[in-house]
Amino acid sequence: MLPALSKAFFHALSRSGTLKKVASRYGMRRPTSFARRFIAGETAAEAIEAARALDARGMTHTLDLLGESVSSLEGAEAATRAYLATIDAVMAAGIERNISLKLTQLGLEADKASAVDNLRKILERADPAGFFVRIDMEDSPYTEVTLNVFETLWQYGHRQIGVVLQSDLYRSERDLQHLNALGARVRLVKGAYREPKTVAYQRKADVDAAYARMLKVLLTDGTYPAIATHDPVMINVAREWARTHNIGQDRFEFQMLYGIRRDLQTTLVNDGYRVRIYVPFGREWFPYFMRRLGERPANVLFVLRGITAERG
Ligand code: FDA
Repeated sequence: MLPALSKAFFHALSRSGTLKKVASRYGMRRPTSFARRFIAGETAAEAIEAARALDARGMTHTLDLLGESVSSLEGAEAATRAYLATIDAVMAAGIERNISLKLTQLGLEADKASAVDNLRKILERADPAGFFVRIDMEDSPYTEVTLNVFETLWQYGHRQIGVVLQSDLYRSERDLQHLNALGARVRLVKGAYREPKTVAYQRKADVDAAYARMLKVLLTDGTYPAIATHDPVMINVAREWARTHNIGQDRFEFQMLYGIRRDLQTTLVNDGYRVRIYVPFGREWFPYFMRRLGERPANVLFVLRGITAERG
């Protein structure tokens, strides 16, 4: 019950213009500012620096230029240009080439065809340079269209792309069968959005049970899947399943978000697992940040202390 309430509450707050203004003013201005716990910085250079630090700890990364719900075609084009610049910056830096993006950032809300065009522009630069591009999954009104766009690109021959499934949605187990049959790379998450009961499990126990079922199917039948969670119970289910089914540590990876459960990230690396960290950066960090608060209300105290310190 509590997680559902919190998600709703933080979803409402994430739409507050005033809160966004206050947060944007104080959240990132110093290296110690509160939003920096979850966001690597506002520039690609800061994200690259964070990625290098993770690599030095034995992990890999995927860089995510934050942004979503872009409602104008101009905004979507600007986001596309920013992604192309990020690709160039990653190549110049010589770090591993892996990015994540959201279709609404590329204009899906305004016009699907333009969003697909924008994505293809990104892939035209990313593919020959050997990038892997993960299409994040957004809230349920976009599930079907995101999977369709992914599959269209797959049919066009793009293989360095992957998609995300959320275990809180009833449909995901079916989608998983289909994606496994294609040979597509899937990142499995629990789901970060507040969803209605017509499409999604509402109880955490049900979301977790679906996650455990799906991760077993993915490990057995999937193509280099990503088990993306900070939940030690789910991580242990994955470890145990892989061990008892002779699935080597090089056949899948764990993924976690920047700044969350760093202890667990390190433990997994020390135990020989592959760990990729999702490194978000950019000026449009507020909605992402609010979803992280909604997942763990204890984070709010940490933020409030941060704001007080910044103002004081
Ligand atoms: P759960 O919420 O049960 O948390 C388990 C434990 O993890 C908690 O007890 C706590 O210790 C720790 N924890 C979790 N969240 C925390 C937080 N915010 N702050 C501090 N501690 C926290 N979602 C989506 O809908 N679409 C997507 O594309 C993605 N992409 C994505 C990529 C990667 C790499 C990850 C790790 C996650 C996503 N997500 C996502 C987010 C995902 O759906 C989910 O909201 C979060 O991962 C939290 O769920 P957990 O699986 O960690 O479990």
